[in-house]
Amino acid sequence: MNHKTTLKDIAKACGVSVTAVSLVLNNRPTRMSQGKRELIVETAKRLRYVPNQAARSLATNKSMLLALLIPDIENMFFASLAKALEDTTSGNGYSLLIANSDDSAHVEHQLLHQFASRGVDGLFLIPSRESVNNSKALKKDVSTLDFPVILTDRLVSEDWCDAVGSDNFIGGQLAAQALLSKGHKRIACISGDTRTGNMNKRVAGFSSTLEKAGFPLDPNLNCSGNYRFDGGYRAADHVIDAHATAVFCTNDLMALGFIQRLEERGLSCPQDCSVIGYDNISEQFGFNHRLSTLDQNIDAMARACSELVYSRIRDMGTQPARNPWITEPKQQFIRPKLVNRATISAL
Ligand code: RIB
Repeated sequence: MNHKTTLKDIAKACGVSVTAVSLVLNNRPTRMSQGKRELIVETAKRLRYVPNQAARSLATNKSMLLALLIPDIENMFFASLAKALEDTTSGNGYSLLIANSDDSAHVEHQLLHQFASRGVDGLFLIPSRESVNNSKALKKDVSTLDFPVILTDRLVSEDWCDAVGSDNFIGGQLAAQALLSKGHKRIACISGDTRTGNMNKRVAGFSSTLEKAGFPLDPNLNCSGNYRFDGGYRAADHVIDAHATAVFCTNDLMALGFIQRLEERGLSCPQDCSVIGYDNISEQFGFNHRLSTLDQNIDAMARACSELVYSRIRDMGTQPARNPWITEPKQQFIRPKLVNRATISAL
């Protein structure tokens, strides 16, 4: 079997101690000359040295692994968020493990314990829909974990854990204002699973703004989708036949499904019905689409998540509290931005 280069091999080849090699390869401060440092790095490359992460984890009590648990791997919003989190964490030497709960509390429970068994240093958790609707079991699971947990995107409105998410209420307000400003009065709403925090907040911001403008949301036009393309597609006939002139879909996938059905019926957007979505996935994924939407500022969300988890990891060695991310939670809300393209027009 091929010999795996060790720190001892490098030290012998450079005429220095194993400690000196370890300090240089881990970018720790040393009094060594620049020439000697360069010799150690070059020798490690020449001998094809690969750090033994398991040994390093034992020495530093850090795995340099972070985890992200997403609820729906087929939804491009979560793919975008995963990419943004990977970009912010890899730059600090961490690897990001990504897993999908498929919106199942049972799968989520299993994955949380698998992450724990792999000794991750921190977790970005987007709760499953089942957990958002009944967070008791999730809170119990999270309280048993000995690494920082950042609730991300969902369940931010409840303050039982560190969390970073969009200010969904403002997002709903911006959507309503964009449609009202074009003279629309008979406006529909297609929301995701209205029991999740995000949807409640978006619909609340949207409907309260319509109410204040004197055009309250008609209950007959307040439709439930499912966060997916077919949710918007299936709700479209009801909205069209109820003669709404505009619709707010609480995510882009449902907005795209709605537009597809509108055009299948020989109608056009925005001429026959204006549409606004939420997530701005078309920009993230380079769709050449005209969809007006709310951008959740995923990069800012990812930066806030990473900074929070790093600060918790740093504090773990010094803070007496076992899990301050639960006992003294910190919450951050990122303001969404209106992106007005071509699917909203005047009445
Ligand atoms: O598209 C999926 C939706 O669920 C997004 O708006 C995001 O906020 C998530 O909660």
